[in-house]
Amino acid sequence: MEENIISTPAEPKKRIFSGVQPSGNITLGNYLGAIKNWVDLQDKYECIYAMMDLHTITVRQTPAELRKRTLELLALYIAAGIDPEKCIMFVQSHNSAHAELGWILNCYTYMGELQRMTQFKDKSARHADNINAGLFTYPVLMAADILLYQTDYVPVGKDQLQHIEICRDIANRFNSLYGNVFKIPEGLLTKSGAKIMSLQDPTKKMSKSDENPKAFISMMDDFNVIAKKIKSAVTDSEGVIEYRPDDESKAGINNLISIMAAVTGKAPESIAQEFSGQGYGVFKAAVADAVVETVRPIREEYDRLIKDKAYLQGIYKNGAESAHRLANRTLKKVYKKVGFVVE
Ligand code: TRP
Repeated sequence: MEENIISTPAEPKKRIFSGVQPSGNITLGNYLGAIKNWVDLQDKYECIYAMMDLHTITVRQTPAELRKRTLELLALYIAAGIDPEKCIMFVQSHNSAHAELGWILNCYTYMGELQRMTQFKDKSARHADNINAGLFTYPVLMAADILLYQTDYVPVGKDQLQHIEICRDIANRFNSLYGNVFKIPEGLLTKSGAKIMSLQDPTKKMSKSDENPKAFISMMDDFNVIAKKIKSAVTDSEGVIEYRPDDESKAGINNLISIMAAVTGKAPESIAQEFSGQGYGVFKAAVADAVVETVRPIREEYDRLIKDKAYLQGIYKNGAESAHRLANRTLKKVYKKVGFVVE
């Protein structure tokens, strides 16, 4: 006799994929703009967070540093609150499916669309002595990262939206040739929209590769260094604390307000209100305190984790196994569709 079991499976969780490149000291901007938001997503979604080392070598790296930073990034993910019991965390190069799908998607991407990418234009201007083919096809590898996991949402900052767009274009092109192979992912703009700007040129994004270390706050900076950097942030000579996001002359103050808003969870307008009439010195000191208090617990946990290499290794090995299993389902399908002999 057939058993009559009525099951009502729970709605499967939507999947999230994101990652950061281990290319330099992780900044406060990376934390507030990306990693902090990932923590909030881990209960509602099935989350996969990777350390994107394959992308990192599009710009020359010191091998020993890259290796060290990849592990540091993992420790930082966990210290920031990403739970290895809930999320898959792995090193991109540990799952060969990324490079494999990346190659295939190269054959479905046009030179013209890659030439339009603003990040390529920026980076090739900054690294004029090393405009390599990997830098050019960077967005294709990123598309592979995302599409391998049938990802629903990709939490990113505004500067990455063009990459999500091209990923969707490539996926749609492939699907229209071969049927429904890839889920079409969507970018998920971080809640605060916090784009943290350089402390020295607040019209530029805070970047870990900035030549001037005073321009960015590293999550690894000493607390007194963090405070000093904030106190010497570029502002303006108007001397009023107002949040005017569209006024470029206020870029410095806007940025400090955004940072304060992101670390306290308050709205920028209410921060401006709270400090209106105060001097910049008082405000900067308050921002410095708030940032240090945000970084402190993460750093304490980080300092503990980074010493426990065996624990970290366990996490990334497990992560790679799960990532491999998920990615290979997609890769197999792709191989079949394009006509490779599948054993
Ligand atoms: N390009 C991203 C950055 O520089 C890093 C990245 C690589 C990524 N592959 C990804 C982010 C896939 C999200 C999803 O920030």
